Amino acid sequence: MNSRARQLGNKVVYQIYIRSFCDSDGDGVGDLRGIISKLDYLKELGVDIVWITPFFVSPQNDNGYDVADYRAIDPVFGTMDDFEELAREARARGIELMLDMVFNHTSTEHEWFKRALAGEQKYLAYYKFVDAAEGATAHDPGEPPTNWESKFGGNAWVYVPSLNKWYLHLFDPTQADLDWDNPEVREEMADILRFWQGKGVSCFRFDVVNLISKPEGWPSDETEGKHFYSDGPRIHEYLQEMVRLGGIDGNVTVGEMSSTTLENCIRYTNPENHELAMAFNFHHLKVDFAGGDKWELKEPDIRELRELFRTWQEGMTAGGGWNSLFWSNHDQPRPNSRFGDTEHHWYASSTLLPTATHLMRGTPYIFQGEELGQTISDFTSIEQYRDVESLNYYQIIQQRGHTPEEAFEIVHARSRDDGRTPMAWDASENAGFTAGTPWLGINANHVSINAETEMADEGSVWSYYQHLIALRKAEPVISEGDVRFVDVADESPLIAYERTLGGTRLLVQCNFSGDEVTGLAVGSGELLVGNYGDPVLEGETVLLRPYEAVAHIWR
Ligand code: GLC
Repeated sequence: MNSRARQLGNKVVYQIYIRSFCDSDGDGVGDLRGIISKLDYLKELGVDIVWITPFFVSPQNDNGYDVADYRAIDPVFGTMDDFEELAREARARGIELMLDMVFNHTSTEHEWFKRALAGEQKYLAYYKFVDAAEGATAHDPGEPPTNWESKFGGNAWVYVPSLNKWYLHLFDPTQADLDWDNPEVREEMADILRFWQGKGVSCFRFDVVNLISKPEGWPSDETEGKHFYSDGPRIHEYLQEMVRLGGIDGNVTVGEMSSTTLENCIRYTNPENHELAMAFNFHHLKVDFAGGDKWELKEPDIRELRELFRTWQEGMTAGGGWNSLFWSNHDQPRPNSRFGDTEHHWYASSTLLPTATHLMRGTPYIFQGEELGQTISDFTSIEQYRDVESLNYYQIIQQRGHTPEEAFEIVHARSRDDGRTPMAWDASENAGFTAGTPWLGINANHVSINAETEMADEGSVWSYYQHLIALRKAEPVISEGDVRFVDVADESPLIAYERTLGGTRLLVQCNFSGDEVTGLAVGSGELLVGNYGDPVLEGETVLLRPYEAVAHIWR
């Protein structure tokens, strides 16, 4: 277990949402050459691995998560030469690239799907096609094979009149689910992994990979169906085979695990099972879903958040698994706006969150702009949104009985576009992101929240992130230590845990509220890091200010 901690525990991953990172050619969309121009920035921040969201050929209906050719670069992002130069230049700076493999589905523009539509048996068997009833018509196709809902809204099946068949899409209708029960599909996917390894890539992120194994017999019940295919029946077998055939056992890999369980994530990431190195789970990012529904708002439940962190930190450690540590990505609104108070305590909110996760056991991920304290968008109208899920749900929320104003408020709090607004490089009109018109609006607060300003300031959010990354590399108790959560009163907004390694002990205390809170005793402990500087003590006990985080160490 400790060799695993040594391999993964001192690394930090930085996520680039390529469309929104840096545009080199003025078309308003970020690209590979834009990333090349910012490698020194990433080096200075101190990250080890850079995950780049999909840049493969795609109609971009889901911004590249609808892949039409896994082995070619979409011209909007650049060329294969650009990619090779990026990989070389990154390696020269000690940075590895992590590629994003979207293997649950392809775009309906993929050649396989087109040949399936043309009736070729081989390719029909690559997807989840199911016969429709005899006599079905485009106008009256009858009942779909199951009542499962697409994650982007609506039923998960499309009827194809020319074939008299339905096909499954767990996401957009233009993202057709592959049939992983077909060994030829599994071989194709392994071959794609080998192709990119041939280009020198060894790290991979696997998109919604725990959804690839569907149940037999197309069951339905009164739910939206996800329990039938999340961590599906043959998932571990398929992952083991992919890892073996793809030649990636022991590499730095991460699976995006949708609605997963602790037990499965231990199996996905315990090295004895030869599956993946680490897993993302999303339970902690649902503590502000009223009634478990993403599209109904409530204040974050900090008690629940604390118990989820406890369960996953202690549980994965006990089972020999490995956690990815994160608050944000391209599918989440900015977390400082969500779990903090950016109006009154922007700096504290933006530094509390990474203190909480970067000192945990696992591998931290930083989503571009998080290290600047970027906030959610300042959009005021639905016209400013581009994301397919957000636009669908804006309608669905109204059909469920909300007014247009309420629907906008909900979308504004939950939209994926609220985390996708372009990276703020400087205070200029388009934030140094593009010389053209940005594909998605830039927050007006980029005049103060931007890389140039913050890198020049030792007291900035950026400098704090740089420090947290350096600490993980300097302190084995952070990269390798054990973890145990400290009990606090149920209603307390405090999340506190201890890390231990040999004779060293680290105590982390985070106040997830805008009120002052009595923390824990620190006695002779030395302050390792804190987002307010020296803590206020009452005797031996810390009095935590709004959104304050402190970590004390005993050696
Ligand atoms: C993952 C991606 C998301 C995408 C979906 C379908 O959740 O992170 O952006 O829409 O998979 O590929």
